[in-house]
Amino acid sequence: AIMGRIKRGALIVFEGVDRSGKSTQCKKLVESLKKQNVKAHFMAFPDRTTSTGKLIDEYLRNKDCKVNDHAMHLLFSANRWENVDKMKAFLNDGITLIVDRYSYSGIAYSAAKKNMEIDWCKQPENGLPKPDKVLFLMVNQEEIMLRPDFGNERYENREIQKKVFEVYQQLFKENDNFESIDSARSIEDVQVEVLKKTLETIKSVENLPLSTLDF
Ligand code: TMP
Ligand code: MG
Repeated sequence: AIMGRIKRGALIVFEGVDRSGKSTQCKKLVESLKKQNVKAHFMAFPDRTTSTGKLIDEYLRNKDCKVNDHAMHLLFSANRWENVDKMKAFLNDGITLIVDRYSYSGIAYSAAKKNMEIDWCKQPENGLPKPDKVLFLMVNQEEIMLRPDFGNERYENREIQKKVFEVYQQLFKENDNFESIDSARSIEDVQVEVLKKTLETIKSVENLPLSTLDF
């Protein structure tokens, strides 16, 4: 008998400024998918558990920690490259990956800095697995500042978040895999929409090969 080919999983990425609800939505989405017997796995970048992740964690939590901005950018990118084989294995096994931040965070947060060129920032991301869908969570900036825990880590301040949001908007225009989601609604309402978009994406890519990022 001819064995049916395993349909691949989808690579779904959540992006948005700090505290836009990405982590909450990602975790709920994985639960919802599993309830519907859709194989899914959660991942987050930076992956703070690896050797590069430990350096990144130290850099984010300790604002006095000084590292060259370009070197830091490459470290965040290396943190994704470290996970490529694992990601491909999941996708090829038919498991959908729900990913909290990816290359677009890398580009947006680095290009928001002075003396950092967006085109330079894009280069180390080329060749990584390309997300089938990027769900870009949009919230009102003022509302974000009122959310709990804002301001504990590097980048969690008004000026930086504003610049980050501007780069995100540029990426949104340049990349056809982006979809904007109004995240200024109840967690449940947002979840209904992200679940719908995710199921649509899973269906539409299951027989297509995975692409690679090509900025
Ligand atoms: P987190 O709050 O989602 O754990 O992310 C930590 C911070 O790291 C967040 O402010 C965004 C930033 N970041 C980068 O600067 N570059 C990257 O490549 C990624 C994934 C995150
Ligand atoms: Mg954060």
